[in-house]
Amino acid sequence: MQGLTPPRTESLSPPLSLSQPSSGDSVISSGSDGSVSVVLGQGGCGRVSIVFNKDQRQLMVEKEPHDNHLRPRCLQILQHEVQVLKELHHPNIISVIHASSECGRWCDSMTLEYGGVDIASTTTPSTAHIVDLHTTEDKKQVLIQIAEALKYLHRNNKVHRDIKPQNILIDGQKQVRVCDFGEVIHFGPDSYDMSPAGTPEYCSPDLYTQAGWSPSSDMWSFGCVMYRALTGKDLFPELANKTQFPMTLFLEDGEGIEAVDFDNEDELLGWIDFTAQSRISENIADPQAKTLLLNLLSIDPGRRPPAGYVCAHPWFKTHQSRLADILP
Ligand SMILES: Nc1ncnc2c1ncn2[C@@H]1O[C@H](COP(=O)(O)OP(=O)(O)OP(=O)(O)O)[C@@H](O)[C@H]1O
Ligand SMILES: [Mg+2]
Repeated sequence: MQGLTPPRTESLSPPLSLSQPSSGDSVISSGSDGSVSVVLGQGGCGRVSIVFNKDQRQLMVEKEPHDNHLRPRCLQILQHEVQVLKELHHPNIISVIHASSECGRWCDSMTLEYGGVDIASTTTPSTAHIVDLHTTEDKKQVLIQIAEALKYLHRNNKVHRDIKPQNILIDGQKQVRVCDFGEVIHFGPDSYDMSPAGTPEYCSPDLYTQAGWSPSSDMWSFGCVMYRALTGKDLFPELANKTQFPMTLFLEDGEGIEAVDFDNEDELLGWIDFTAQSRISENIADPQAKTLLLNLLSIDPGRRPPAGYVCAHPWFKTHQSRLADILP
């Protein structure tokens, strides 16, 4: 799998610390080939490190599975991610440079192009200065690049299933790349998949309604990312780590925090629907953005606009493109 994608030369600024490595990890190490690697963090499936190759003067990212009882499952996910990424070639999707152990049954690590920082980190004080995403125009540029990646992915009959700020990377040129393709599934006319995946705060309610995964599920998650980009807040922070019923959510009722029990899917769906519609209506002032978000956050997947529609939506037109439309 060598040379799947021509190596991309990134700016050689010092690697950024994105998420904290767990204690006990070696944070910086040197390879025999003169490369230096820095552990970025431990994801659900393994360790992610930035590797700086001094000879090629290139930054890359290495993803390796956990070295514990989760290893067999993580190897499977890594293998799947490599296979999916090999088929995808789009400027807003991260590229694989190399996957090791080709002759063995499993690849046990993969090297990706360096995509910059994830957009969840751009709001933390330590990294906020690196990519300035404060203006609405900047936010639109990020969001439309995510929508372009989803348009391409969905046209290739794939559903990402874990669209969230931590899986969206942005570099110093404000080029956006979606990463973390380990949970991607194929989607076809007769597909019906209800396997658990995703991250509760960003995950569509399609498993609760029995609709199953579809490209529309990613559009719900895209809506959650758009809401966070515009307000700086998660739409459903209460859902963090909530996966099973009975479920207790800690809800703000104006006078304080109250623990509320949800016994089944229908009760939770009612809360999700009401909360999405009321928070969007209260916190999003721009009428075009509000309508788009209300549609993306529809419980009925059939009412959510597809990625192609989002890419062409007038709200994403920048000042420059509007000017270009009216100038002779
Ligand atoms: N190519 C890359 N360039 C820069 N940073 C990256 C790259 N790939 C991953 N990262 C960083 O590492 C983090 C974890 O990577 P990834 O999501 O692919 O792993 P994971 O094991 O699936 O993690 P999780 O379960 O936390 O989603 C990302 O959130 C991002 O901050
Ligand atoms: Mg991830």
